[in-house]
Amino acid sequence: MTSLTDKTALVTGASRGIGRAIALASDGAVVAVHYGSNEAAAAATVADIQAAGGQAFPVRAELGVDGDVDELFDGLERGLAGRPLDILVNNAAISTFDATIDATREQFDREFAVNVRAPFFITQRALPLIRDGELLGVLDIDSPLHARFDEEDEAGLRPIAEFLSRVL
Ligand SMILES: NC(=O)c1ccc[n+]([C@@H]2O[C@H](COP(=O)([O-])OP(=O)(O)OC[C@H]3O[C@@H](n4cnc5c(N)ncnc54)[C@H](OP(=O)(O)O)[C@@H]3O)[C@@H](O)[C@H]2O)c1
Repeated sequence: MTSLTDKTALVTGASRGIGRAIALASDGAVVAVHYGSNEAAAAATVADIQAAGGQAFPVRAELGVDGDVDELFDGLERGLAGRPLDILVNNAAISTFDATIDATREQFDREFAVNVRAPFFITQRALPLIRDGELLGVLDIDSPLHARFDEEDEAGLRPIAEFLSRVL
């Protein structure tokens, strides 16, 4: 595997679960450990990366609300201190209902805002931070909303991720 020394990465939702596992596999990259509310868990992810000899810093931003991307990038750019961004992992997501067909309007709007709108605008906002126009990677973890719309509606939301992978 190639070492990511001198690279930087933003992993959203890295306080726990799959995002934490991705952040811990940073392989030398400086990692921005994003979280929504669980400050202690994010601090533990940062501490574990540092204990393994890596570099990391926490970034708090609740996604799916007004100003979410601004808050995220304020913290990210402070932590990067002028360094470019090489890797973006759009991992943070929520799952608030069992089957898409049962979703209330409020649940649908909230999942769309966190799982689809936020990753789209995070990716858009990340582009100017990229080194020499070279993005090492954007990984969009499959969101519950994607999965359920794909399951029940062939014209679902997966095209957003496919669109991003085509234009970047
Ligand atoms: N687990 C599975 O079996 C599975 C299967 C397929 C795909 N996935 C996908 O993998 C990804 C991670 O899943 P997971 O199970 O590891 O998730 P998880 O354990 O529930 O962790 C979610 C992470 O996202 C953050 N987050 C959630 N809502 C947020 C919000 N509104 N604003 C900011 N941060 C928010 C959480 O931060 P805080 O706790 O700090 O708020 C946490 O760090 C998701 O995209 C999920 O759809 C998971």
